[in-house]
Amino acid sequence: MHIGLLTGGGDCPGLNAVIRAVTLALANECGARVTGIERGFWGLLHGRARPLEPATVHGILAEGGTILGTHNRCDPFHDTDGADRSAQALAFAREDLRLDGLVAIGGDGTMQIAERFHRLGLPVVGVPKTIDNDLPRNDRSFGFDSAVAVVADALDRLATTARSHGRVMIAETMGRYAGWIALEGGLAGGADAILIPERPFDVAALARWCREREATVGHTLICIAEGARAHGQGLTVQARLADSPDPIRLGGVGAWLQQQLQPALTSEVRTTLLGHVQRGGTPTPFDRVLATRFGYHAAQLVRGGRWGRMVVLAGAECDSVDLLEVAGQSRPVPATDGRLRAALGLGVWMGDGAGT
Ligand code: F6P
Repeated sequence: MHIGLLTGGGDCPGLNAVIRAVTLALANECGARVTGIERGFWGLLHGRARPLEPATVHGILAEGGTILGTHNRCDPFHDTDGADRSAQALAFAREDLRLDGLVAIGGDGTMQIAERFHRLGLPVVGVPKTIDNDLPRNDRSFGFDSAVAVVADALDRLATTARSHGRVMIAETMGRYAGWIALEGGLAGGADAILIPERPFDVAALARWCREREATVGHTLICIAEGARAHGQGLTVQARLADSPDPIRLGGVGAWLQQQLQPALTSEVRTTLLGHVQRGGTPTPFDRVLATRFGYHAAQLVRGGRWGRMVVLAGAECDSVDLLEVAGQSRPVPATDGRLRAALGLGVWMGDGAGT
């Protein structure tokens, strides 16, 4: 058996742990040959691949990023000549490499592309990857725990300045259209206010609440997700990348909030955009283990010929779902989420949760 392996979309702590686990499990359990496709689907289009052997993946468990490289601006089905480009990629996989199947590690965009290749006759198994934790049917993605650890550490540090100077300190997290990173990172870092896309907020009410705190505790720590927005406001878009499958890049809502709050307050308001530090560096031990389990489970799906499925964590166990159920979908924080309920119960300011 000859299996291709690629990583698509943004980088993420734990990708190398999955690459290692798939390669080792397939080599150990059925002697399969594994080939790494470089830079995601870009590598399929440009004929870039290299062998992955047990020796190749030695020592990469704790390494951040992906040894194969990745690409989040390459969708072989995207352009007007999409049919030609996808046929070219398919020919490289099936005729040049003679792959029996492909393991695609990535987020919703990668799963969407993978699912189309699967339908065209290249059998695919998917492994969910995203620091945003927003893939449907999957309780937890690897990379999320590592991102949350960065946010918690940043909030710990920002709280020092908030207390010492009597300031309002705002930390803006990643997360796209879901609030998982801000919610869990905000809880872990003891944020006084957590603002997430799922709960649009009222700026005037937030300013009043900060003013009250000026007269009592004297400082406020706000954790805001990049996709959060005030009532009546649109998303804060930092850039639009025309050649990307998901062209919108969010960013800047923290700075916007600072501008809104500052005139209403006596204390200084400052903003820190956490950005890509949340995605970089070594995975936490939790993410190393989860990524290893996902890679192992993907190898079991391959061995069992269970193509067209994506690995998920359901409760405490690995399982799989049809790729069609996740391709291009997102998973917002539900109103019933235990973390959300706990934050509200503790008096964390999260807006009134009403309206849009
Ligand atoms: O999906 C992961 C993520 O880090 C999002 O949280 C963020 O909005 C986006 O990717 C940033 O992408 P890029 O690295 O292309 O700017």
